[in-house]
Amino acid sequence: MKIIVVGTGFVGLCHAAVCSEYGHEVYAYDIDAVRINAYQTGNASEIERFINEPGLASVIAENLNRYLFFTTTVSDIIEGTDAIFLCLPTPPKPDGSSDLSFYFTAVEYLAELLAKRVDQRRVVIINKSTVPIGTARALENVLLKHNVPNVGIASNPEFLPEGDAVEKSRRPDRVVVGADTEADFRIIRRIYSQFVNHVRIRYIETTPETAEAIKYVANTLLLTYVSFWNGVGARLGETFPNIRIEDLKRGVTADARISTWGSYVGIGAGGSCFGKDVQSLIYQLQSRDQDAQILQAVYDINEYQKVYLLDRAEREAGFSFANKTIAVLGLAFKQRTNDMRDSSALKVVEGLLGRGVKAIRAYDPMSMHEATKFFDPNKNPLFSKISYEPSVKSALQGTDALVIATDWEEFRGLSRTIEQHTAHPYLIIDGRRMVPDYGELVSQGYRYLAVGSPLLGQVP
Ligand SMILES: NC(=O)c1ccc[n+]([C@@H]2O[C@H](COP(=O)([O-])OP(=O)(O)OC[C@H]3O[C@@H](n4cnc5c(N)ncnc54)[C@H](O)[C@@H]3O)[C@@H](O)[C@H]2O)c1
Repeated sequence: MKIIVVGTGFVGLCHAAVCSEYGHEVYAYDIDAVRINAYQTGNASEIERFINEPGLASVIAENLNRYLFFTTTVSDIIEGTDAIFLCLPTPPKPDGSSDLSFYFTAVEYLAELLAKRVDQRRVVIINKSTVPIGTARALENVLLKHNVPNVGIASNPEFLPEGDAVEKSRRPDRVVVGADTEADFRIIRRIYSQFVNHVRIRYIETTPETAEAIKYVANTLLLTYVSFWNGVGARLGETFPNIRIEDLKRGVTADARISTWGSYVGIGAGGSCFGKDVQSLIYQLQSRDQDAQILQAVYDINEYQKVYLLDRAEREAGFSFANKTIAVLGLAFKQRTNDMRDSSALKVVEGLLGRGVKAIRAYDPMSMHEATKFFDPNKNPLFSKISYEPSVKSALQGTDALVIATDWEEFRGLSRTIEQHTAHPYLIIDGRRMVPDYGELVSQGYRYLAVGSPLLGQVP
């Protein structure tokens, strides 16, 4: 099949790369020439400056200029195309609704090109972006407005988790395809032929609107699990003495009806999707006079969770951040990715700067380059207080407290390093419950404050 993928961010680049592995002829198109030039080198370090996903650079290198082509112009490749995947950004507006301007700018442009095709074989425009329910129908209206012949629309939402995107693109839990006609379902079945009759992958064909709704319900349900554990499980562990949060989780999730996913407690879930999708669904419901209380609570709990440990440090540990030097371990929104969009660490850093810290010594195994874009001193001079350190040890030097903000495996069991590179009095703020042997540190005089437990150690 001849496929064009429009937008080569996380979703588009992974999708294009994995589709090319199956022998489709894939053209990955983006308006960002810097990005396209970097991908076009096939060089891992160049590609990973934009998207750092395990295994992705090698899939690109293997298929580059054989099955996978990068381009900044689409007009000369549109003839003979079977499918166009839209992988465009849909960020939130201040009122929570989805900003569809990138999406429809691209759609208008493509519709004009498609209307002028000489070869009028059927082409299906397949949406992969997360878009409000009814967007596929609006896409159809744009195509009708431009009199595009022999065209169909479909919704094929993306569920890939960052950090595991390549593997999950190869073996997704499900493939959801919403379309209107058998002709369009048939084209998409040919693209996804490896999944259609797979024994473990659910291949679901439905209406475009149902497909759009599946994406929102799935993402907001996942965030509901996270917020439930943070808003109820963690709160219990922080309030009542002698509750072991790990045992609580194991006891509760022993019931097969209860998900183990999301049962971790921590400083909230970040990333480009959860916050924006829940806000968008709240907006979609409320703007139609429907109640969205449960979603609002889920969102509010998650946002509060990102900063509440700093409040607890002041309240419970009597710690004043003013003029202190703080180590921040982890900047990415989760392990195995360099993505910092909506990362809890952003809120932690802002919260620390807002409390007047003298300096922040930051370390993250993958996101240091990314961080310099988020913390640009030209935009906010306070960001010049952040130094980027090459290791945990270096980040800890001369600090008064540390915050663990990302669940990188290398932060698990840091107690020895903490002992060797810090001096008392010292406060450990563990946003991810990464230090299982905190008891030993506490017995040596450290104070330990974690999500899901009361403060441990003496308040001076
Ligand atoms: N990131 C994820 O983990 C994830 C997972 C599932 C779904 N989604 C959804 O997928 C969509 C894309 O997300 P993303 O994270 O890949 O976004 P992204 O911001 O990483 O990438 C979007 C790309 O689109 C390009 N672009 C913008 N306007 C364009 C145009 N007119 N023509 C061509 N290219 C254009 C940008 O240059 C950028 O490279 C969003 O709706 C998102 O909610 C994301």
